[in-house]
Formats: sequence, structure tokens, C-alpha cells
Amino acid sequence: MSKGVKAAPMAQIPHQRPEDGAGPIVRVEGLRKTFHSGRQEITPLDGVNFSATRGEMVSVVGPSGTGKSTFLHLLAALDTPTNGEVYFAGNLLRSFSEAELAEYRNRQVGFVWQRHHLLPDFSAAENVAMPLLVHGETPRQSLQAAQGWLREVGLEGRAEQRAGELSGGEQQRVAIARALANQPSLLLADEPTGDLDERSAQGIFDLLERLHRSHRLTSIVATHNVALARRADRMLALEHGKLAPSGNTPEAGSAGRTPPAGVGANSPGGLE
Ligand SMILES: Nc1ncnc2c1ncn2[C@@H]1O[C@H](COP(=O)(O)OP(=O)(O)OP(=O)(O)O)[C@@H](O)[C@H]1O
Ligand SMILES: [Mg+2]
Repeated sequence: MSKGVKAAPMAQIPHQRPEDGAGPIVRVEGLRKTFHSGRQEITPLDGVNFSATRGEMVSVVGPSGTGKSTFLHLLAALDTPTNGEVYFAGNLLRSFSEAELAEYRNRQVGFVWQRHHLLPDFSAAENVAMPLLVHGETPRQSLQAAQGWLREVGLEGRAEQRAGELSGGEQQRVAIARALANQPSLLLADEPTGDLDERSAQGIFDLLERLHRSHRLTSIVATHNVALARRADRMLALEHGKLAPSGNTPEAGSAGRTPPAGVGANSPGGLE
């Protein structure tokens, strides 16, 4: 399994694009996560195997508390698995140094949360510029790039407005722009429409799909909204600690669209 697999130094990990190289962009093997809460032990993930090919959009559905957020946090290296491995572009996350992990989180992963976590007293542009500043771009470059991203999410003209003054849907657009500011390969979205009304939710999902395609991202979206989840290339359900094609679960029904070329039962993407 993971024995003998060494991570390349982060400097050698290219800025992966979907057409670059072969193999899945993200892969997990035997992922298990146990939390200890007082005397209680909770194991939301209990042997999850998963991989996503470059350019694929995968949705993850499942009842509340089944571990969708936990799964995304492990992919983003925001938490560590109890057992099992996560690979990014063939590199084992467990063997990354702290600096490499920080670089991975900042450059390779864009994370969209249910609640946007914007800094309310900073402008929309300053919020989007934040990851660029963290990466060492100058304030001028960062703010210029942020303006471009705000245009892409349909918020040109709002750059100077305080994030706290924007509507929920607008704030989520800013959060998406911020997640993409460093042009990550992997977009992880945890209930990105959970706080929005149906119409705004549709708009945010439309935007995610459009950005997913135009920036050739690999996207994994956890959601309770099965109608939106069905629009992904593949819909998986997380239940009883395992990920399975959603067709197996009564709540989710059959999977949605036809997968893109190269994504099928025998392709690198899929459950293993
Ligand atoms: N840091 C933690 N400490 C203890 N238990 C935790 C922790 N994080 C998550 N859990 C537990 O793990 C389980 C899975 O939580 P998680 O947030 O991943 O579920 P979810 O599928 O995202 O739920 P929802 O749909 O409500 O967002 C829950 O029972 C939760 O209480
Ligand atoms: Mg969650």
C-alpha cells in the first residue's frame, strides 16, 4: 500500500492541471477517522476508498453526521486520518513536511465552506487577495488578481464593499473567488449552498460548475441537495463509514449525468 512511497518535495510538485500526466489527482486508501469525545468513540469514516480523475466533478451526499465534512477535511489536510492514506497527484500527504502541507493547502486546494468565513470588515477584494498575500504576492498584485476573480464570479463593482455588507449569495461568491485565487487543482466544497435559498443555491452551483469547467478543476462537493448533487459527473453516498455509488442508497436515487470521456468503471477515477 503506502509502504515505500515517498512524497516528492513540494517544489517538485507541478501546478497540476487536468491534462497533466496520468493517474488520479486525488486518491484515498482505507481511510479511517476516529474521534474521541469524552468516553465516546466516533468513527465516521471506516475504510473509505476513493479516487478522482483530473477534471472530474464528484458529489458526496449522505445524512447529517455521516462524515462528509470529515472526509473533505482529510483531503484538504486540515486533519489527519487515524488510518489509511491520502495521495495528491501520486504523492503521499502523510510524508509532507509542515511547510509542504502549508503549501499544499494554500496552492493546490481551494476550500469552500458552508459558512463563507470571510473577514466581514475587510473588502471583498481584500478577502479574495488574502491567500495570494499568504503566498507572498505583493499587495498590489494580489488586489489586481482579486479584481479579476471577482469579475469571474459576477461581482465586479463590489470589490471595495465590506464583505459583511454583502448578501449571503454574494458572500459565497466572494468565498469561491477566494478559494480559487491561487488557481488550485482541487476544489473542495462543503455544503456550499447549505445556507442559501433554492434560487441562490442554483446560482452558486451553476457558478461552481462553470468555474470547474473553465479552470479545469477537480471538484468534490458535499451536499444535502440531491438535485444539485445529481448534476455532478459522479454522485457518491457516505453511509456507515463507507463511500458507495449513490444509486445504492434509497435517499439518493440513481446517479446523474453520463460521466465525461475516460471516467468509467475501468478508468482511474472511481471507487476501488
Ligand atoms: N472534532 C471532532 N470531535 C469529535 N467528534 C467529531 C469531530 N468532528 C466531527 N465529529 C463527529 O463525526 C461525525 C461526522 O461529522 P461530520 O461533520 O463529518 O458529518 P457531516 O456528514 O459533515 O454532517 P453534516 O451533513 O451535518 O454537515 C459526527 O458524529 C460528528 O459529531
Ligand atoms: Mg458537514
